[in-house]
Amino acid sequence: MMKPSPTILIISYSLSGQTNGLLHGLVSGLEDSQCHVHHERLQPLAPIRFPFGSVPKTVVMMLRTFLRQRFAIAPLSTACDEQYNLIILAGPTWSYNPSGPMLFFIDRDGRRILKDQTVIPLISCRGYWRMHLWGLQRMLTQCGAEVANTMIFSHPAKEPWRTLGVFLKLSGKHPEKMAFIGSHYHRYGHDKTQAAEAREYGRLIGSHLAAGQPLADLALQHRTTCPD
Ligand SMILES: Cc1cc2nc3c(=O)[nH]c(=O)nc-3n(C[C@H](O)[C@H](O)[C@H](O)COP(=O)(O)O)c2cc1C
Repeated sequence: MMKPSPTILIISYSLSGQTNGLLHGLVSGLEDSQCHVHHERLQPLAPIRFPFGSVPKTVVMMLRTFLRQRFAIAPLSTACDEQYNLIILAGPTWSYNPSGPMLFFIDRDGRRILKDQTVIPLISCRGYWRMHLWGLQRMLTQCGAEVANTMIFSHPAKEPWRTLGVFLKLSGKHPEKMAFIGSHYHRYGHDKTQAAEAREYGRLIGSHLAAGQPLADLALQHRTTCPD
């Protein structure tokens, strides 16, 4: 008898499209290996504008997010209450923490949806993810989830241009077009290699699930990302 295809729930938030780009690759890879994927996007009740529009507005947002402010989200669809072989929680780092919508989701729905489930977090960040991952793992464990592995993607640009570039981008500027900075900072966010890597991770996760092999054995970290 044929084994049923693995089922995967992806719960994600993406403000500037970087997590979405990685998920596009990941979902293709999961589907390449015959997984059924339900993708649930967290929807903030008050839309969050990207870019923030000015340097002072960006600084205020950084402060709010450093204080782990929650951003209320709409209720999730009932598909999230079904049973899955794996849940992937994907989103950006905001001031060393999970994003405000993700924090709100974990507070409100985490125990109901994540208890006794196998979870893999996917983090999109400019490069400073350790505190985010540590705090997130702690929250997930408190919800009763088993964190089986992690996927971390840092922006490939070099420092200090990466930090400067992200800050300017969030403020509404175009650092890649600026005379001096632009010669060091060519683009905001992840590159095509990382999207391809995400697709490969999707294939690996799918084939491991189908074969009933432990996801903890997979090397899903830092093949193309920066060694922070
Ligand atoms: C408010 C805010 C705070 C951020 N703080 C961090 C940070 O502490 N560490 C980091 O590596 N990146 C930080 N970033 C950069 C994002 O994590 C990065 O741009 C990510 O790729 C965005 O993903 P998204 O487009 O899916 O939202 C921050 C971005 C925002 C908007």
